[in-house]
Amino acid sequence: MPGSRGRCTRRVALRMDNKAYLVQMTSSGVHGKTLTGKGMLGNGFHHMSVNGSLYPTKTKSRRQRWEVKPSEMAKNTLNPIRAIVDGMKLTPNPEKPMISLSIGDPTVFGNLPTDDAVLQALKDAIDSQKYNGYAPSVGYLKSRQAVANFYSSPEAPLEAEDVILTSGCSQAIELAINVFCNPGDSILVPRPGFSLYKTLAVSMGIEVKLYNLLPEKSWEIDLQHMESLIDERTSCLIVTNPSNPCGSVFTKEHLQKILKVASKHCVPILADEIYSDMVFPGCSCPSLASLSSDVPVLSCGGLAKRWLVPGWRMGWILIHDRNNIFGSEIRQGLVKLSQRILGACTIVQGALESILNNTPQGFYSNTISFLKSNSEICFNELSSVPGLNPVMPSGAMYLMVGIEMDHFPDFKNDVDFTERLVTEQSVFCLPASAFEYPNFFRIVVTVPEALMEEACVRIREFCQCYYRPPSCDVCQSRGSVPDRHAMLKGRVNHDSPTTSRDLRYSGRISSTPKPCHPGDF
Ligand SMILES: Cc1ncc(COP(=O)(O)O)c(C=O)c1O
Repeated sequence: MPGSRGRCTRRVALRMDNKAYLVQMTSSGVHGKTLTGKGMLGNGFHHMSVNGSLYPTKTKSRRQRWEVKPSEMAKNTLNPIRAIVDGMKLTPNPEKPMISLSIGDPTVFGNLPTDDAVLQALKDAIDSQKYNGYAPSVGYLKSRQAVANFYSSPEAPLEAEDVILTSGCSQAIELAINVFCNPGDSILVPRPGFSLYKTLAVSMGIEVKLYNLLPEKSWEIDLQHMESLIDERTSCLIVTNPSNPCGSVFTKEHLQKILKVASKHCVPILADEIYSDMVFPGCSCPSLASLSSDVPVLSCGGLAKRWLVPGWRMGWILIHDRNNIFGSEIRQGLVKLSQRILGACTIVQGALESILNNTPQGFYSNTISFLKSNSEICFNELSSVPGLNPVMPSGAMYLMVGIEMDHFPDFKNDVDFTERLVTEQSVFCLPASAFEYPNFFRIVVTVPEALMEEACVRIREFCQCYYRPPSCDVCQSRGSVPDRHAMLKGRVNHDSPTTSRDLRYSGRISSTPKPCHPGDF
């Protein structure tokens, strides 16, 4: 072969046009013969006819039987949501239509269409016939420039070369983890958190260390816990903001504290900002990169959620590296990784500039208003349900609900609880064990308002049926029947010490305590 040293000869069997070829490769070229012995191919390849006799009659170690096994990577690829949901018996009550509050796809009910401008952009891209071919592996320059312009800020400026287009935010996350980590390294991941990080990492031999989020502090990071997990094998810190599954949005001050820890230990950040700008009025959500003075950040995002088109599979990585810590190596690493499989669909790339520039502001704000209003309906309804502790979100499209399992002795755990909720009430919420956070469940708030209301009514009915108050030891010693439910929610000023768990949602509910279900005592 040109450029190779010495004369090395190899024989390789090829199959082309349904014919078998034996190709002889030498240092000076490649020769082969077809079965018909026609000789040299136009491209400089020679082909040679193949008949059984050209092959050794006995191979060195012939397999005696079929043994086709999945690779270690395949075996180690586990989606915890699938693992949990596939193991559940989800047979709805035939008398009640099913309401699924489990899928993080805003398009499933048809009540949240994307904007006409987004659709028009795609139609124009198709009609132009300009986007039917392959794009560069990192995306068309024009489309990368559009993303850079859209997300650039004086604090965190971006150029086209800082943007890599990917197949959804998922591929952006995969490339980012791949570029940071070798097998044996570790990543820090939020608990509760989006399950993809672990699914990807474990299959690549990367250790996942879970840092805690604190429900009583609107799901802020337990920074001390997070810091305690960092060691010399920590290759990146993943921060999801706004959060799936919590719907929480970190304050600027909290983001600064996260950056401080990352800076102190020189750990780069993978910021999953797919829900960026999906925050309720009154909340601000600066990007991590805009607050960073030194910590390099790969910010992963995409069209899926904010533009309500998850099926279009358009994502991106924004490279923020003002102090040149990533340097050219990480950038080149990302480019190389992007070359393994071409990412974003070219038609959507062709539409991207127009989508980003022409989507009216009203579309974004209408979506946010809807999500906020539905979150409020759900939070207000469930706040007064015995044994449930919803946490009000500030953005994204999710709401987490704590289950006081002690008061539901009929159920083993959140999986059991949510399974029975389907069997009896035909309402499906995802058990938060899927996010490494037992005793909670997650509700997706993109469903139509009427369904959200109906689902809450059914959840209440279910809980009222199974809620068991504590034994009456406490009330007897106090000489009265306590409103245990109100006490758990911090609404009763009980002078005996109350556990932090009991009080952790205190202060959020001001309505009059609701008496326990009559059957409870
Ligand atoms: C936090 C988070 N990151 C990433 C993704 C993946 O986004 P995409 O559909 O663009 O791959 C999701 C999807 O639900 C998500 O919730």
